[in-house]
Amino acid sequence: MPYPPILRSQFATSSFANLPKFGIIISSNPPGDSISEIKPCRACNACHKKGVCPQKDGFNAIKDKILEADGLILASPNYIFQVSAQLKTFLDRCGGAIHCQGFEGKYGASVVTSGGGDEKEIAAYLNHFLLTTGAIPVGAVWATMGKIYGPDFPKPIRDRASALGKKLVRAIETKAQASASDRKEMARFRSRMRSLMLWRKDEWPYEYEYWKKHRGLKG
Ligand SMILES: Cc1cc2nc3c(=O)[nH]c(=O)nc-3n(C[C@H](O)[C@H](O)[C@H](O)COP(=O)(O)O)c2cc1C
Repeated sequence: MPYPPILRSQFATSSFANLPKFGIIISSNPPGDSISEIKPCRACNACHKKGVCPQKDGFNAIKDKILEADGLILASPNYIFQVSAQLKTFLDRCGGAIHCQGFEGKYGASVVTSGGGDEKEIAAYLNHFLLTTGAIPVGAVWATMGKIYGPDFPKPIRDRASALGKKLVRAIETKAQASASDRKEMARFRSRMRSLMLWRKDEWPYEYEYWKKHRGLKG
Protein backbone atom coordinates (compact mmCIF):
# COMPACT_ATOMS: atom_id res chain seq x y z
CA MET A 1 0.00 0.00 0.00
CA PRO A 2 1.88 3.06 -1.20
CA TYR A 3 -0.07 5.68 0.74
CA PRO A 4 0.00 7.75 2.80
CA PRO A 5 3.33 8.80 1.30
CA ILE A 6 1.34 11.95 0.70
CA LEU A 7 2.85 12.73 4.05
CA ARG A 8 6.37 11.85 3.20
CA SER A 9 6.55 13.05 -0.35
CA GLN A 10 4.39 16.15 -0.23
CA PHE A 11 3.36 17.08 3.23
CA ALA A 12 6.18 16.14 5.50
CA THR A 13 9.19 16.96 3.41
CA SER A 14 7.78 20.22 2.14
CA SER A 15 7.32 21.48 5.65
CA PHE A 16 9.64 19.57 7.89
CA ALA A 17 12.74 19.32 5.73
CA ASN A 18 14.82 21.48 8.05
CA LEU A 19 13.23 20.32 11.24
CA PRO A 20 14.08 16.65 11.57
CA LYS A 21 13.41 16.43 15.29
CA PHE A 22 10.36 18.52 15.06
CA GLY A 23 7.54 16.05 14.96
CA ILE A 24 6.33 12.56 14.62
CA ILE A 25 4.12 11.02 12.00
CA ILE A 26 1.86 8.14 12.94
CA SER A 27 0.46 6.41 9.89
CA SER A 28 -0.90 3.05 8.89
CA ASN A 29 2.06 1.39 7.33
CA PRO A 30 2.54 -2.03 5.76
CA PRO A 31 3.24 -5.07 7.97
CA GLY A 32 6.71 -4.89 9.43
CA ASP A 33 6.50 -1.27 10.44
CA SER A 34 6.24 -0.66 14.17
CA ILE A 35 2.68 0.69 14.00
CA SER A 36 1.50 -2.58 12.44
CA GLU A 37 3.09 -4.58 15.26
CA ILE A 38 1.22 -2.80 18.02
CA LYS A 39 -1.00 -5.14 19.95
CA PRO A 40 -4.61 -4.41 20.89
CA CYS A 41 -5.41 -2.85 24.24
CA ARG A 42 -6.17 -5.57 26.81
CA ALA A 43 -8.31 -3.28 28.97
CA CYS A 44 -6.15 -4.18 31.98
CA ASN A 45 -6.14 -0.53 33.13
CA ALA A 46 -2.43 -0.74 34.01
CA CYS A 47 -1.81 2.55 32.17
CA HIS A 48 -4.38 4.23 34.39
CA LYS A 49 -3.00 2.60 37.54
CA LYS A 50 0.74 2.79 36.86
CA GLY A 51 1.18 5.23 33.97
CA VAL A 52 2.74 2.72 31.61
CA CYS A 53 1.47 -0.10 29.41
CA PRO A 54 2.99 -3.50 30.32
CA GLN A 55 2.65 -4.95 26.80
CA LYS A 56 5.95 -5.65 25.08
CA ASP A 57 5.74 -3.98 21.70
CA GLY A 58 6.55 -0.66 20.09
CA PHE A 59 3.80 1.37 21.75
CA ASN A 60 5.73 2.88 24.65
CA ALA A 61 8.58 3.93 22.35
CA ILE A 62 6.17 5.69 19.99
CA LYS A 63 4.42 7.33 22.93
CA ASP A 64 7.77 8.59 24.25
CA LYS A 65 8.57 10.03 20.82
CA ILE A 66 5.26 11.85 20.80
CA LEU A 67 5.97 13.23 24.27
CA GLU A 68 9.30 14.62 22.99
CA ALA A 69 7.77 16.08 19.83
CA ASP A 70 6.10 19.43 19.22
CA GLY A 71 3.83 18.15 16.49
CA LEU A 72 1.95 14.99 15.63
CA ILE A 73 0.48 14.03 12.27
CA LEU A 74 -2.01 11.18 12.13
CA ALA A 75 -2.49 9.54 8.76
CA SER A 76 -4.73 6.73 7.58
CA PRO A 77 -6.45 5.27 4.57
CA ASN A 78 -10.23 4.98 4.68
CA TYR A 79 -10.89 1.35 5.56
CA ILE A 80 -14.65 0.77 5.51
CA PHE A 81 -15.53 4.32 6.47
CA GLN A 82 -13.03 4.50 9.33
CA VAL A 83 -9.34 4.71 10.11
CA SER A 84 -7.38 1.53 9.44
CA ALA A 85 -7.39 -1.17 12.10
CA GLN A 86 -3.64 -0.63 12.52
CA LEU A 87 -4.04 3.02 13.43
CA LYS A 88 -7.13 2.37 15.55
CA THR A 89 -5.15 -0.20 17.54
CA PHE A 90 -2.60 2.49 18.29
CA LEU A 91 -5.29 5.03 19.23
CA ASP A 92 -6.93 2.49 21.57
CA ARG A 93 -3.66 2.27 23.48
CA CYS A 94 -3.75 6.03 24.16
CA GLY A 95 -6.43 5.98 26.87
CA GLY A 96 -3.90 7.19 29.44
CA ALA A 97 -2.96 10.18 27.28
CA ILE A 98 -6.64 11.01 26.88
CA HIS A 99 -7.41 10.76 30.61
CA CYS A 100 -4.49 13.03 31.47
CA GLN A 101 -4.60 15.15 28.30
CA GLY A 102 -1.02 14.04 28.10
CA PHE A 103 -0.26 15.63 24.70
CA GLU A 104 -1.16 19.11 25.92
CA GLY A 105 1.03 21.82 24.37
CA LYS A 106 1.46 19.89 21.13
CA TYR A 107 -0.11 20.60 17.77
CA GLY A 108 -1.43 18.11 15.27
CA ALA A 109 -2.93 17.53 11.86
CA SER A 110 -4.61 14.65 10.07
CA VAL A 111 -4.21 13.11 6.64
CA VAL A 112 -6.61 10.65 5.01
CA THR A 113 -6.69 8.83 1.68
CA SER A 114 -9.59 6.82 0.26
CA GLY A 115 -10.50 4.83 -2.80
CA GLY A 116 -13.75 6.68 -3.43
CA GLY A 117 -14.47 9.29 -0.73
CA ASP A 118 -15.81 9.82 2.83
CA GLU A 119 -12.48 11.16 4.06
CA LYS A 120 -13.89 14.21 5.84
CA GLU A 121 -15.53 12.28 8.69
CA ILE A 122 -12.38 10.22 9.23
CA ALA A 123 -10.22 13.34 9.35
CA ALA A 124 -12.69 14.88 11.83
CA TYR A 125 -12.42 11.76 13.97
CA LEU A 126 -8.61 11.93 13.98
CA ASN A 127 -8.64 15.61 14.87
CA HIS A 128 -11.13 14.92 17.63
CA PHE A 129 -8.76 12.28 18.98
CA LEU A 130 -5.96 14.88 19.00
CA LEU A 131 -8.15 17.33 20.84
CA THR A 132 -9.05 14.82 23.55
CA THR A 133 -5.36 14.22 24.26
CA GLY A 134 -4.92 17.97 24.80
CA ALA A 135 -3.17 18.55 21.45
CA ILE A 136 -4.46 21.37 19.26
CA PRO A 137 -5.56 20.22 15.78
CA VAL A 138 -4.74 22.74 13.06
CA GLY A 139 -6.47 21.06 10.13
CA ALA A 140 -6.66 18.10 7.80
CA VAL A 141 -5.95 17.16 4.22
CA TRP A 142 -7.24 14.26 2.17
CA ALA A 143 -7.16 12.68 -1.26
CA THR A 144 -9.57 10.43 -3.16
CA MET A 145 -7.25 8.05 -4.95
CA GLY A 146 -9.92 6.83 -7.41
CA LYS A 147 -10.02 10.32 -8.89
CA ILE A 148 -6.27 10.60 -9.30
CA TYR A 149 -4.63 9.47 -12.51
CA GLY A 150 -0.91 9.33 -12.95
CA PRO A 151 1.98 8.74 -10.60
CA ASP A 152 1.78 11.93 -8.55
CA PHE A 153 -0.82 13.81 -6.56
CA PRO A 154 -2.40 16.67 -8.48
CA LYS A 155 -1.08 20.14 -7.66
CA PRO A 156 -4.18 21.31 -5.72
CA ILE A 157 -3.79 18.41 -3.30
CA ARG A 158 -0.04 18.96 -3.01
CA ASP A 159 -0.70 22.64 -2.33
CA ARG A 160 -3.26 21.83 0.36
CA ALA A 161 -0.87 19.37 2.01
CA SER A 162 1.97 21.85 1.89
CA ALA A 163 -0.21 24.65 3.29
CA LEU A 164 -1.34 22.45 6.14
CA GLY A 165 2.25 21.49 6.93
CA LYS A 166 3.24 25.14 7.04
CA LYS A 167 0.24 25.95 9.22
CA LEU A 168 1.31 23.25 11.64
CA VAL A 169 4.85 24.62 11.80
CA ARG A 170 3.57 28.16 12.30
CA ALA A 171 1.19 27.05 15.06
CA ILE A 172 4.09 25.43 16.90
CA GLU A 173 6.40 28.39 16.44
CA THR A 174 3.83 30.97 17.54
CA LYS A 175 2.17 28.75 20.15
CA ALA A 176 -1.14 29.43 18.44
CA GLN A 177 -4.39 29.17 20.37
CA ALA A 178 -7.00 26.61 19.46
CA SER A 179 -10.08 27.88 17.62
CA ALA A 180 -12.93 29.09 19.83
CA SER A 181 -14.98 25.97 19.11
CA ASP A 182 -12.02 23.67 19.83
CA ARG A 183 -11.32 25.55 23.09
CA LYS A 184 -14.91 25.00 24.13
CA GLU A 185 -14.78 21.30 23.28
CA MET A 186 -11.42 20.89 25.05
CA ALA A 187 -12.80 22.54 28.18
CA ARG A 188 -15.89 20.33 28.09
CA PHE A 189 -13.80 17.20 27.66
CA ARG A 190 -11.34 18.20 30.37
CA SER A 191 -14.18 18.71 32.79
CA ARG A 192 -15.41 15.22 31.94
CA MET A 193 -11.96 13.76 32.62
CA ARG A 194 -11.78 15.65 35.92
CA SER A 195 -15.01 13.98 37.01
CA LEU A 196 -13.65 10.62 35.88
CA MET A 197 -10.51 11.08 37.99
CA LEU A 198 -12.54 11.87 41.09
CA TRP A 199 -14.74 8.86 40.47
CA ARG A 200 -11.82 6.45 39.87
CA LYS A 201 -9.24 7.92 42.23
CA ASP A 202 -8.89 4.75 44.31
CA GLU A 203 -8.52 2.41 41.31
CA TRP A 204 -6.30 4.63 39.14
CA PRO A 205 -3.68 6.13 41.48
CA TYR A 206 -1.24 7.15 38.72
CA GLU A 207 -3.76 9.27 36.86
CA TYR A 208 -5.26 10.67 40.05
CA GLU A 209 -1.79 11.78 41.23
CA TYR A 210 -1.06 13.21 37.77
CA TRP A 211 -4.18 15.33 37.97
CA LYS A 212 -3.31 16.48 41.51
CA LYS A 213 0.23 17.40 40.48
CA HIS A 214 -0.35 18.90 37.03
CA ARG A 215 -3.95 20.06 37.08
CA GLY A 216 -4.48 21.10 40.68
CA LEU A 217 -7.11 18.45 41.29
CA LYS A 218 -8.46 18.50 44.82
CA GLY A 219 -10.87 16.10 46.41
C1 LIG B 1 -9.62 -3.13 3.85
C2 LIG B 1 -9.87 -1.95 2.95
C3 LIG B 1 -11.03 -1.23 3.12
C4 LIG B 1 -11.27 -0.11 2.33
N1 LIG B 1 -12.43 0.59 2.53
C5 LIG B 1 -12.66 1.68 1.77
C6 LIG B 1 -13.87 2.42 1.94
O1 LIG B 1 -14.73 2.12 2.76
N2 LIG B 1 -14.05 3.52 1.18
C7 LIG B 1 -13.13 3.93 0.26
O2 LIG B 1 -13.35 4.93 -0.40
N3 LIG B 1 -11.97 3.24 0.08
C8 LIG B 1 -11.72 2.14 0.81
N4 LIG B 1 -10.56 1.44 0.63
C9 LIG B 1 -9.53 1.96 -0.28
C10 LIG B 1 -8.42 2.64 0.49
O3 LIG B 1 -8.90 3.75 1.22
C11 LIG B 1 -7.32 3.07 -0.47
O4 LIG B 1 -6.78 1.91 -1.04
C12 LIG B 1 -6.25 3.85 0.27
O5 LIG B 1 -6.75 5.11 0.64
C13 LIG B 1 -4.99 4.03 -0.54
O6 LIG B 1 -5.22 4.32 -1.87
P1 LIG B 1 -4.48 3.47 -3.05
O7 LIG B 1 -5.04 2.08 -2.99
O8 LIG B 1 -4.80 4.17 -4.33
O9 LIG B 1 -3.06 3.49 -2.69
C14 LIG B 1 -10.32 0.29 1.36
C15 LIG B 1 -9.16 -0.47 1.18
C16 LIG B 1 -8.94 -1.58 1.96
C17 LIG B 1 -7.67 -2.38 1.74
